[in-house]
Amino acid sequence: MLKTNDNTLFVDGVSALELADEFGTPLYVYSEHRIKENLNEIRTSFLNKYPNTHAAYACKAFCTLYMCKLLDEEGFWIDVVSGGELFTAIKAKFPPGRIEFNGNNKSEEELVMALDYGVERIVVDNVSELYHLEKLCMDSGKKVKILFRITPAVTSDTHEYITTGRKDSKFGIPLDEDILYPLIQYAIESKAFEFLGFHFHVGSQLLDTKSHLSALEVILELMLATKQKFGYDIKDFNMGGGFGIKYTDSDNPLGISDFVDPIMNRLDEFCSDNNLIRPHVSMEPGRFIIGDAGIQLYRIGNIKEIPGVKTYASVDGGMTDNMRPGLYGAKYDATIANKADEPKNAVVDISGKCCESTDILIKNLKCTKPETGDLLAVFSTGAYGFSMANNYNKIRIPAVVVISDEKARLIVKRQSYDDMILNEMI
Ligand SMILES: Cc1ncc(COP(=O)(O)O)c(C=O)c1O
Repeated sequence: MLKTNDNTLFVDGVSALELADEFGTPLYVYSEHRIKENLNEIRTSFLNKYPNTHAAYACKAFCTLYMCKLLDEEGFWIDVVSGGELFTAIKAKFPPGRIEFNGNNKSEEELVMALDYGVERIVVDNVSELYHLEKLCMDSGKKVKILFRITPAVTSDTHEYITTGRKDSKFGIPLDEDILYPLIQYAIESKAFEFLGFHFHVGSQLLDTKSHLSALEVILELMLATKQKFGYDIKDFNMGGGFGIKYTDSDNPLGISDFVDPIMNRLDEFCSDNNLIRPHVSMEPGRFIIGDAGIQLYRIGNIKEIPGVKTYASVDGGMTDNMRPGLYGAKYDATIANKADEPKNAVVDISGKCCESTDILIKNLKCTKPETGDLLAVFSTGAYGFSMANNYNKIRIPAVVVISDEKARLIVKRQSYDDMILNEMI
């Protein structure tokens, strides 16, 4: 996807310099080819390899009309976690029969929306949601398929802020037998629900399989207990997402098959040992599909050298368009796109333009000596950049372009100053 030619960085055959000239900076740039390659890996290693499976894109990673339409064309499902994501999918004409709805505090408005649009399944996150949803189903005469999101009480080897499966988590139903088993029975017996089974999501940017495999053991025991206690066959199991990608040279991500094969083998083995029917299996990755398909382009502005300390190169964006470094110390690699072949003999901090000291996009970046006016390309910014963008300091949200067939296409316009005050009143 990224190549250099004549000292210039190219994205799928399109010059980064021309992209910046045509669309301005900061700019989110996506490679459709890379998105499709990532989808193909999921197809080859999961969907085509194992029958009775599906894969949903966790659209929180990058939720746009374009993405929903592409995912539909590619035959994938979509996982939404809010009315806004659901609305976007529906506006893109994404079939509700392939939408699942996650989230730890779905509002009544959102649950009603989900029922009205007819999403295929709702992942129930907690006890109060179960009763709330049941009432809404009863009131409207609708029946909905549900899974329980389980907190499997496993720790994961990732940043504390993106671990989600440990016992003390705001997500999911805890494993306490006194809570869980009565709830399973309730869901099985309720006329409002078709109880499908269990879901977990143990964390994000995972670079090994440990937490998935530990969480799987918890689900297997639950499947068996559900059969033994209630005579009920679990129909569905969702392994969540979290499959890590390469941000910097120190990341060694696994492939999809590294996660999926041991999960599917263990599931098959457990089911045949215990005379259980192997359930339908699904996953819901976000970052794996979109993360390395995106880069961000920034114009370098002021350079501040503190003799004997360090050099800051400031860019025309920052934590407003990529808050991950400020939020949980996420690391990125970058290059100067107009000096792509030159030796990287400088070390600088790339700072954003926001009024926060934590607005440092990259610390200690090894790059060519930066100068005002250079174009910086930050790699693997496709996930949770645009989708977490905000208007702090009233900075506008950048435009998004996608490259396909060596052509760039605008898929999100740059926010205007007028857009920013559209809903304000004096
Ligand atoms: C429930 C759930 N599913 C899937 C995902 C996607 O995670 P990732 O982008 O790391 O694959 C998340 C991320 O927060 C999540 O909370």
